[in-house]
Amino acid sequence: MGLDHTLDETAPKHQRRIRYKGTHPKNFKEKYKELQPDQYADDVAKIIQKGNTPAGMHISICVNEILEFLQITPGQIGLDATLGYGGHTLEMLKCLNSKGRLYATDVDPIELPRTRTRLERLGYGSEILEIKHMNFSKIDQIVPESGPFNFVLADLGVSSMQIDNPERGFSFKTEGALDLRLNPKTGDSAASLLKQLTLDELETILIENADEPHARAIARAIISTIKKGFDISTTTELRNIIKDTLKSIPKISEDEIKKSCQRSFQALRIDINNEFEVLDEFLEKLPDALAPGGRVAILSFHSGEDRRVKKSFKHFFREGVYREIAPDPIRASSEECHVNSRARSAKLRWAIKA
Ligand SMILES: C[S@@+](CC[C@H](N)C(=O)[O-])C[C@H]1O[C@@H](n2cnc3c(N)ncnc32)[C@H](O)[C@@H]1O
Repeated sequence: MGLDHTLDETAPKHQRRIRYKGTHPKNFKEKYKELQPDQYADDVAKIIQKGNTPAGMHISICVNEILEFLQITPGQIGLDATLGYGGHTLEMLKCLNSKGRLYATDVDPIELPRTRTRLERLGYGSEILEIKHMNFSKIDQIVPESGPFNFVLADLGVSSMQIDNPERGFSFKTEGALDLRLNPKTGDSAASLLKQLTLDELETILIENADEPHARAIARAIISTIKKGFDISTTTELRNIIKDTLKSIPKISEDEIKKSCQRSFQALRIDINNEFEVLDEFLEKLPDALAPGGRVAILSFHSGEDRRVKKSFKHFFREGVYREIAPDPIRASSEECHVNSRARSAKLRWAIKA
């Protein structure tokens, strides 16, 4: 998959072994080996071989397919719009071979400095890599400094580090504050948003952002809990409300309830972070940010994202702005899906500027 799994940020300090119940750590903070891949490389490799993502790490998706399409050559100027763990960034930097310049953006103020340090330790400092804490929707603000891009990558959504860290509140599976913000330093958390929504608004969010079939029932249960004066401030509280509501539907399976929890969290995350609006803005500005012949690849993870990418690429192709676009989305290979279940829903689309 091309990601250098030895990426780690700081020289390890000696620490007493963290105590946990049973033979394997279950909580994020107890997974001290996974959180220090430099020191425990063999343990981390075993976790990856078993098809799991170690805590605090992100396994990059469709690396070979993306590099094959982008055709990066030394001296080019590129943008990784979604830095994350820096896995794709690292592979793109290797292709540049110390010549040219790579820009990278991310809105996450927690993971961004860690990734910057990891990449600096691997020898990729500001002479070749310019990391900016900003939303990719403002791509036009980078171009005056960078010049038009020869290649652009956007790997949409959230990273495994964000999902797995219970303090970020992204997952219904682990107890944590109901936050869901990519940038927790700005805007409203999901807990605060829920208090402001009407029943119809919440139902619309669940339908439009995640095609949730039980949207009305879930929205009604959430709003009535809040009206009774109860706070929904943790991931577990929200999950339990959804579970308890859906359990009363005859013949509903545990799996269906789990999927509804997953979709509801996704729908709220998309709303909290304005994910569709910023993606639309980015897609609209992209053609002007690309050099003639410039290549863009976008990895999306659900239909709401993929529809937007497909529509925009088709629109600009018809206008003659893109000379070629992906006829169909590229999917991760079955081998990759086997070792990384998060690759299963990935769809890769590309376009080439005229
Ligand atoms: C799937 S991860 C990227 C993983 C990365 N490609 C790697 O190989 O490690 C998506 C990242 O994009 C960031 N992100 C999401 N929406 C963004 C936006 N509108 N602007 C900038 N960064 C964004 C998230 O904070 C997250 O770190």
